[in-house]
Amino acid sequence: MSRARLAVMASTLALLAACGQGDTKSDMPPLPASATAPVTYERDIHSWAQPQIARVRHVDLDLTADFATKTLSGTATLDVTGEPGATQVILDIKNLEIRSVADDKGNALQFAFGAEDPIKGQALTVTVPAFEPGKGQKIVVTYSTRPDAAALQWLTPAQTAGGQQPFLFSQGQAILTRTWVPTQDSPGIRQTYSAKITVPEALKAVMSAEMLTPDGERAADGMHAYRFRMTNPVPPYLIALAVGDLSFASVGEGVGVWTEPSRLEAARNEFSEMRQLVDAAEALYGPYRWGRYDLLILPPSFPFGGMENPRLTFATPTVVAGDKSLVSLVAHELAHSWSGNLVTNATWADIWLNEGTTTYFENRIMEAVYGRDRAMMLQVLGWNDLQASLAEMAPLDTRLHVDLDGRDPDDGLNDIPYEKGAAFLRTIERIVGRERFDAWLKGYFERNAFRPMTAGGFLIDIRANLVRDDSALERELQLDNWVYQPGLPSNAQAPVSTALTAVDTAADAFFADKGPASAIPWSGWSTQERQHFLAWRPEGAAATRPWLTGAQLADLEASLNLRAEGNAEVLFQWLQIAVAHRYQPAVPTLERFLTSQGRRKFVLPLYTSLWGQGDWGRPIATRVYATARPGYHPVTTGSVDDVVGVPSPVAG
Ligand code: BES
Ligand code: ZN
Repeated sequence: MSRARLAVMASTLALLAACGQGDTKSDMPPLPASATAPVTYERDIHSWAQPQIARVRHVDLDLTADFATKTLSGTATLDVTGEPGATQVILDIKNLEIRSVADDKGNALQFAFGAEDPIKGQALTVTVPAFEPGKGQKIVVTYSTRPDAAALQWLTPAQTAGGQQPFLFSQGQAILTRTWVPTQDSPGIRQTYSAKITVPEALKAVMSAEMLTPDGERAADGMHAYRFRMTNPVPPYLIALAVGDLSFASVGEGVGVWTEPSRLEAARNEFSEMRQLVDAAEALYGPYRWGRYDLLILPPSFPFGGMENPRLTFATPTVVAGDKSLVSLVAHELAHSWSGNLVTNATWADIWLNEGTTTYFENRIMEAVYGRDRAMMLQVLGWNDLQASLAEMAPLDTRLHVDLDGRDPDDGLNDIPYEKGAAFLRTIERIVGRERFDAWLKGYFERNAFRPMTAGGFLIDIRANLVRDDSALERELQLDNWVYQPGLPSNAQAPVSTALTAVDTAADAFFADKGPASAIPWSGWSTQERQHFLAWRPEGAAATRPWLTGAQLADLEASLNLRAEGNAEVLFQWLQIAVAHRYQPAVPTLERFLTSQGRRKFVLPLYTSLWGQGDWGRPIATRVYATARPGYHPVTTGSVDDVVGVPSPVAG
């Protein structure tokens, strides 16, 4: 099982970089002489591609969306460069219907499928005429997706807000792009892209790219075509598409929201401060490099809170809380425009480079726009989640640089990359001071823009540009400990929020001292204070037993009006308490929550808790899942199936 960690050494780096994957010399400006920019190459175990031999540089899609058959079909034309003499290009595909492969003159090219791996899918090896020095080739793959493509969710009109039109959206991260685009699906292989997407006339297509035809162009048979262009090279997991009855509202210069018409007004109000978020981000860490920044509010089955697709963040409608209380999610996805989309984890073993840096950056945006108190509350909530995860996870999985050998990158998606990653950067900030830290982080984004990054490369950069041979500082930071060892190094410090300390007092009074729920100052609390209150748990051995009586649960539910709770984060916390206590009166609320949205972060823990409640919870989980499952995205069902099992078809 255990694999020696890939501590990357400068000498091997230089050698490997000469082969290609991290070497962006052909499409990047030369580096400033002063920067010791780490050249970062690491083999990606989740891709079949061999970019050191031949690599995709550009993808041009020409696809038609057919809602009747739930397929996208057409062509992907790939611009490929290769080592002189190389005759094979290896692509990643999973569950795709490949019809033919040709060059750009229509001459058929030979292709072969590799063995099917349940996680990675298959290699599609295309044989091409030998590459000549300095000359690329085009490969045209004619294909269609399958109705159960894991990246795509095809919604019926009933699953949308408007109820009249169907909807389609994609989710590429981590390794799902290969289920709708045949390309080299590795985050270290950046590609520019362009697309023509043909959809039924009543619908609009949007992508993570510049929209070249805002009103679309007439196409055959009552269809409309939309053209797009992304001129920055992006990792393929950021290629994204949505099709539906979509409308747009500007909320400021260069920023706006897309959603179904009936949700537009609410979205416009909720995100009216988006320009301030972008301004704050730019003031912190340098110019936003992607042009527009828009937000797409999806139907409720979107499996994540948000997804940082360039120029167009995809988001769950559960962030439209009505009171702007969950905008930190937008700050997070926006921050990825630097951490993740500019400087990208080279492999999924280092997703902390994307998510930890972003969680740190997110909080800095929140502090700049909403003040220190709000930011500290968010830090404490994250820190507490981290403590809970550290307590229950296998120690080796609590390293920042993780071992995903034989595993789905999804297995690395937990609080460690987010919150331990953010705690790491906060520790460095505290030790060197904010000013020095900010100057380094801004420089890190500049030096490494449009490049893949590894843990080893990160350490080389911070040593070269921040530590600079200061051996006392080097010892104090414990950089290698943070990245390669389990748990938290001794220099980690818990954040403190005075607001949440006050909530702790109220929580102790109610939960531990069994006071009345009427004494809880709920109505004066923000969403974060409410979340924190409901996250209270008994300590030590008592933690495995129920901590409330039936009377207390009823008191809490009634006093806080939890049956009518509209904030998804708060409702989720309450439902976790309810399930832990087998509190029957909350089951209708639970059922409504599980059938009205499909965000995996909420849905999976609730099914898991239900399942953990044996005779009481399992029948509820099975019954609700049978109804809810057809409405969930494959990302969510893929996880919940492992807990509840695939329900047998309901008779009739
Ligand atoms: N990029 C992630 C979502 C993701 C990560 C999808 C890995 C697939 C694989 C996104 O930026 C994210 O972190 N979303 C969070 C919200 C955020 C505020 C913590 C989510 O969806 O809950
Ligand atoms: Zn993220």
